[in-house]
Amino acid sequence: MLQTRRISCNPFSCEYQRVRLRCAVASRSSQGTPSGPRRPRRKGLFITFEGIEGSGKSTQAQALAQYLRDKGFEVIETREPGGTPVAEHIREVFLRPTRELRSVDPLVPECEVALILAARSQHVADQLLPALKQGAVIVCDRFSDSTLAYQGFGRGLPLRELRSLTRWAAKGLTPDVTFLFDLPVSQGLRRRLNSTDVNRLDHETVAFHQRVRKGFLSLAQQAPRRIHTIHAARSAQAIAQELITLINPLLEQGLKARRLTVKHS
Ligand SMILES: Nc1ncnc2c1ncn2[C@@H]1O[C@H](COP(=O)(O)OP(=O)(O)OP(=O)(O)O)[C@@H](O)[C@H]1O
Ligand SMILES: [Mg+2]
Repeated sequence: MLQTRRISCNPFSCEYQRVRLRCAVASRSSQGTPSGPRRPRRKGLFITFEGIEGSGKSTQAQALAQYLRDKGFEVIETREPGGTPVAEHIREVFLRPTRELRSVDPLVPECEVALILAARSQHVADQLLPALKQGAVIVCDRFSDSTLAYQGFGRGLPLRELRSLTRWAAKGLTPDVTFLFDLPVSQGLRRRLNSTDVNRLDHETVAFHQRVRKGFLSLAQQAPRRIHTIHAARSAQAIAQELITLINPLLEQGLKARRLTVKHS
């Protein structure tokens, strides 16, 4: 007799998310029929971290990368905008114009997009695609969803065009799994106050960050198999444990990430 198991419908529950992850992997492994659309061939695993300012992306990306390294995977830890020398230069132009430049010649939204896409195209071609081809696990702090959330929902640029541009710049590369860190804007901005690394986005209004947060949540609704919303107002330890619980089945399902020989001394 066919047995069925009821799963929790709470999107924050681990069981619910694990089942969705398995669906995402199954759907990826069925992609790329000879007649289907061309996708870059790769065998690694591409994980992205998204969310508003101060939501804990970098903290958790580092922790997960370390966990994966300890398990013996070859891990590339990277970020956007950035990840290559040229893209890191562009990051500086994007995030850290001088106070004078900010007032006399503020970046217009289209220029923001152009800079982000310039950096992304370099990052994808020089770093991400070659690493994925080699079978590495990539842990990337922000990617295309940030462009849609910030420049689309935040700045009001048309989403359809942004999607098409970002697909073009990324050569069709999309993450296998995205963790979206969600928490109230006020809490994220409060966490940012401790940072010495002030950037241009710290000068944006609360209303802007709220549009961005809403945008991310809307993107998560549109791509429920790929984007996993993480309740980010919890302790860093609890979140790290949840990510491990979510990622392990994916690794075990044999995405062929290359396992290095772990040397025991
Ligand atoms: N779960 C947590 N609870 C409390 N504080 C946290 C938590 N996670 C991270 N922090 C702290 O909040 C601040 C922001 O964290 P982090 O830099 O990881 O966020 P981020 O999303 O990468 O921010 P940004 O968008 O500015 O890069 C840091 O000081 C960090 O130590
Ligand atoms: Mg960060």
